[in-house]
Amino acid sequence: MNAPSLEELADLATPWAIRVVITLGVPELLADGTRSSEDLAVAAGCDATYLRRMLAHLAGRGLFRQERPGWFALTEAGQQLRGDGARLGYGLDGVGGRFAHAWTTLADAVREGRPVYAEKFGRPFWEDLAAHPELSADFDAMMGPAGHGEPDPRILPEEAWAGASTIVDVGGGAGYKLAALLKARPELRGTLVELPPTAARAEQVLAEAGLADRSEVVAQSFFDPLPAGADLYLLSSIINDFPDPEAAAILTRCAEAAGRTGRVLVRGAVADDDHQPSGLEVELVLLGGRVRGPDEFAALAARAGLAVRALHDQPAGLVAELIPD
Ligand SMILES: C[S@@+](CC[C@H](N)C(=O)[O-])C[C@H]1O[C@@H](n2cnc3c(N)ncnc32)[C@H](O)[C@@H]1O
Repeated sequence: MNAPSLEELADLATPWAIRVVITLGVPELLADGTRSSEDLAVAAGCDATYLRRMLAHLAGRGLFRQERPGWFALTEAGQQLRGDGARLGYGLDGVGGRFAHAWTTLADAVREGRPVYAEKFGRPFWEDLAAHPELSADFDAMMGPAGHGEPDPRILPEEAWAGASTIVDVGGGAGYKLAALLKARPELRGTLVELPPTAARAEQVLAEAGLADRSEVVAQSFFDPLPAGADLYLLSSIINDFPDPEAAAILTRCAEAAGRTGRVLVRGAVADDDHQPSGLEVELVLLGGRVRGPDEFAALAARAGLAVRALHDQPAGLVAELIPD
């Protein structure tokens, strides 16, 4: 197999054209079949010539089919461009626009060894979301079923649940994961800790799921002392968002609250091999975070007085189970 050319590897036309057609809503306009680029341009409120060139380019990438000159349909692969998940993740008018433009900070981030998101957008990522309620709502929705599908409650093997009747979901987002856990385990009670705007959405999600009587939402930062004495503390897609000092500080808050008897569960933050590259993911440019290998993660946990009891390879992803050291 020939190695891809530099031009193919460095091409920016495809990723930007994908984002632009999603932003313009073109894939939805093709839900019922073939339309001309002129007709699409009127419906999307854009220029027909530019649109036709973009669609022809993306036809070359297998996402659209040009049935006759200037007439386009979505291919099977192009169906991925439709729906809320695509809009939230890649639409340039919402949080997807922040993700896309944040990549332009990569060179400075690499030079300085830290995220420079605030220099471009005026505030660090979470503060930027708090200052723009529409972006925060997008982000919460993206982390929920619209972006990531229905959450899988299988975070621990059955035997590891033994004796656990309370859980704190630390940085639990809009409550979709906690709702799935509570639904799957009728004996479980849950507390969700989140920043204020997201905490309010979580309260609503849990109430709509009929779980208000088994759940509590606490609007506070996870850098402050956490509700103490629960059996389990869940950090799902949190530790991978932060560089070591902040990640260790969050784990320390969990360790303090868990005491000698609680366990801390960390999902989405540990790779199963120290030698595999941890990946260049958007968390790096947004927040300076990354997935860590098992040894590196164990060293981080030790800074918080925690030891890795087990790494569970669960359908919901690899989960590190931590106990007091
Ligand atoms: C990547 S999301 C993960 C959400 C959820 N745990 C999940 O797995 O879907 C990170 C979450 O951390 C929350 N967060 C960020 N900084 C926080 C802080 N200082 N205190 C509490 N929550 C915070 C964000 O609001 C966001 O919902």
